[in-house]
Amino acid sequence: MKITVVGGGYVGLVSAACFADLGHNVTIIEIDNQKIDEINKGIPPIYEDGLEEILKATVGKSLVSQADYHDLEDTDVFFICVGTPPQDDGSANLTYLSQAAESIGTAIRGAKKYQVITVKSTVPPGTTESVVLPGLLRSSGRTEESIGFCMNPEFLREGRAIDDFKNPDRIVIGGNTNDAIALVKQVYAGVSAPLITTSIKAAEMIKYTSNSFLAMKISFSNEIGNLCKKLGINVYEVMNGVGYDHRINPHFLNAGLGFGGSCFPKDVMALIRLAEKNNEEPILLKSVITVNEGQPEKIVSLLTERIGALSDKHIAILGLAFKDNTDDVRDSRSIPVIQSLLKKGAKITAYDPMATESMKRYYPNLNYKQTAGEALEGADACLVLTEWPEFKAIDSEFNRMKTKVIIEGRRILSLDGIEGVCW
Ligand SMILES: NC(=O)c1ccc[n+]([C@@H]2O[C@H](COP(=O)([O-])OP(=O)(O)OC[C@H]3O[C@@H](n4cnc5c(N)ncnc54)[C@H](O)[C@@H]3O)[C@@H](O)[C@H]2O)c1
Repeated sequence: MKITVVGGGYVGLVSAACFADLGHNVTIIEIDNQKIDEINKGIPPIYEDGLEEILKATVGKSLVSQADYHDLEDTDVFFICVGTPPQDDGSANLTYLSQAAESIGTAIRGAKKYQVITVKSTVPPGTTESVVLPGLLRSSGRTEESIGFCMNPEFLREGRAIDDFKNPDRIVIGGNTNDAIALVKQVYAGVSAPLITTSIKAAEMIKYTSNSFLAMKISFSNEIGNLCKKLGINVYEVMNGVGYDHRINPHFLNAGLGFGGSCFPKDVMALIRLAEKNNEEPILLKSVITVNEGQPEKIVSLLTERIGALSDKHIAILGLAFKDNTDDVRDSRSIPVIQSLLKKGAKITAYDPMATESMKRYYPNLNYKQTAGEALEGADACLVLTEWPEFKAIDSEFNRMKTKVIIEGRRILSLDGIEGVCW
């Protein structure tokens, strides 16, 4: 099939590469020329395990990236994968989405074949039908008989995105007609997963609800963890016992610094705003955010309890990315921790296996180091903020610290008896 993916970021690029890998002919439309150049050279602009291999095998054959919307008349299915970042009040900014819809419409004005426009970006329920559909029909001058509309939410996890694409828990396709759904189904032929077809609005809501539920599990575990810490109980022993219950399951019960990244915080906030606009008080969702926002300050308070006032203290930070296996620092919990430490006058050395360059955009003047050992040299204390597997192997490097005070925000070290933010 001929597929066009609009937006070559984390979701768009991974999806486009995997669609090409499935045997489709894929065009990525991007507005960022640097990304286009890199993609067309087979260089992934983001780090994602396995992505480079797929780009090397498909670029120039079945995958191409371009800036303008030309030669798209023969596209079977469009996937819109542009960002939907939060606005100041937390609601989703749909500007990129409407621009993409308008541009696609103009590009397919004269096309004769039946085409399907699929929204993959995470959008509030109602958006595909109230923003994308009318915008696209207007700019294309075509009718709903000749264009189908679908919503196909993306559930990939950064750092494991290729594997998640190839082995998803489910594929959700919401559509306005059976023909539209059938065409999008065809795109995924070759991926073995339960296929769930719904209304467009339900598909949009499934994505927000899934992310909010996962965020709730994390905040719940953190609230229990904070109490366990006061009671002298190991929350990891507790959640291990809890997670064996099949009604609960063991995933996302890791207490710690809380959730970050480009999705959970923004999606929970967007759902809160959506509820409020509809005169519903989202009590539980608001608490999920409140608990999450409290965790970074908890680790800073604990640090102060252990080493006293932080002014002029040398704090080594291990881990900047919002989670392991990615260079993404968007809404990483390390950002509020760093902000608080700097405000209190601490001196920071920081090490991350992959996310240093990304963090330089937020803190260009932090003392970044090439190895964990260098960051630990002479430190008064160390905070572990990302669960990088390579941190498991750190051992004698801790001897380079001035005082061996180590506090984990993520439970990853192999050393015995290390204290954590809530254990
Ligand atoms: N990152 C994730 O883990 C993840 C997972 C599931 C869903 N999502 C959702 O997918 C969407 C995209 O997220 P992302 O992380 O890939 O964002 P991103 O910022 O990494 O990528 C968006 C890309 O779209 C491009 N773009 C913007 N407007 C454009 C236009 N008019 N034409 C062409 N390109 C345009 C940008 O230059 C950028 O490269 C969001 O709605 C997000 O919530 C993200």
